[in-house]
Amino acid sequence: ALIALRQLLDHAADHGYGVPAFNVNNLEQIHAIMQAAQATDSPVILQASAGARKYAGEAYLRHMVLAAIETHPDIPVCLHQDHGASPAVCIQAIRSGFSSVMMDGSLREDAKTPASYDYNVAVTAEVCKMAHAVGVSVEGELGCLGSLETGDAGEEDGVGAAGKLTHDQMLTDPVEARDFVARTGVDALAIAIGTSHGAYKFTRPPTGEVLAIDRIAQIHTAVPNTHLVMHGSSSVPQEWLAIIRQYGGELKETYGVPVEEIVRGIASGVRKVNIDTDIRLAMFGAMRQLMATQPGEFDPRKALAAATKAAQGICQARFEAFGCAGQA
Ligand code: G3H
Ligand code: 13P
Ligand code: NA
Ligand code: ZN
Repeated sequence: ALIALRQLLDHAADHGYGVPAFNVNNLEQIHAIMQAAQATDSPVILQASAGARKYAGEAYLRHMVLAAIETHPDIPVCLHQDHGASPAVCIQAIRSGFSSVMMDGSLREDAKTPASYDYNVAVTAEVCKMAHAVGVSVEGELGCLGSLETGDAGEEDGVGAAGKLTHDQMLTDPVEARDFVARTGVDALAIAIGTSHGAYKFTRPPTGEVLAIDRIAQIHTAVPNTHLVMHGSSSVPQEWLAIIRQYGGELKETYGVPVEEIVRGIASGVRKVNIDTDIRLAMFGAMRQLMATQPGEFDPRKALAAATKAAQGICQARFEAFGCAGQA
């Protein structure tokens, strides 16, 4: 059944687990996530960016998700708009049947330039008013996502000419979080605590504390009834990087957020964990491997089935690690 983010994460909070939110834009990704959820009895968050909806087509995406719900009647599914850049984008998603939307007012409408706090409050409150009137949940974002190691904002959050972020900019302020929640009414809040989007998060193997765990706990205490969201949570599996390189890919050395660190984040109050890059890497690695090792093959389903299986492996491992398995 389709379920709003608020209800899905209330259950996660009551039972102390975290829910991976996987980005989707095609049939194989939806298959992989649903098969993994079925195998582990896990609740599901499928999230689609504006780019994903443009890629698949609004109606195609909606009907694929409806098909997933029909095929797996016992699994709760939240359909969430990822990184809505304006109230208009969020309204469009609501009209399209999404049960949750993210209004990312931490950036201006160009989705690149950091926005003022007042702008963020205004657009997020506007979306909450409209979404809540029709039972749709809202995620907001406060802070600049960025790697505490490199000071880089990551792929989608370039701060343009401003360049590197300062340590303070990359950590959400708990006092501001409390004010933001009070003034907007968001159900979930994306926080900056050391992660960044994309494959290039850390240049060296992460050792010790990668995330600002104390900060997560402080924000959780400041806004106990708002569910904390961690974007940029791919772990960038070295096994898949190795396969991609073995079969002709040229990805630079890079590291992601270790799964054990995410588990510590969940223990400190994180409830929604956004993952896109890991699925991209696994699917692409599997396709490169299939095409290189079976050169006589020309049925696309062979490559796509290998990609689906690879993505399913990632999803299943995250459902299990985050305590989501058995909670559907
Ligand atoms: O954070 C955004 C997601 O990784 C989606 O990326 O805009 O390429 O679909 P996309
Ligand atoms: P990754 O790039 O780490 O997978 O993060 C995805 C994300 O935060 C989507 O909103
Ligand atoms: Na931000
Ligand atoms: Zn994100």
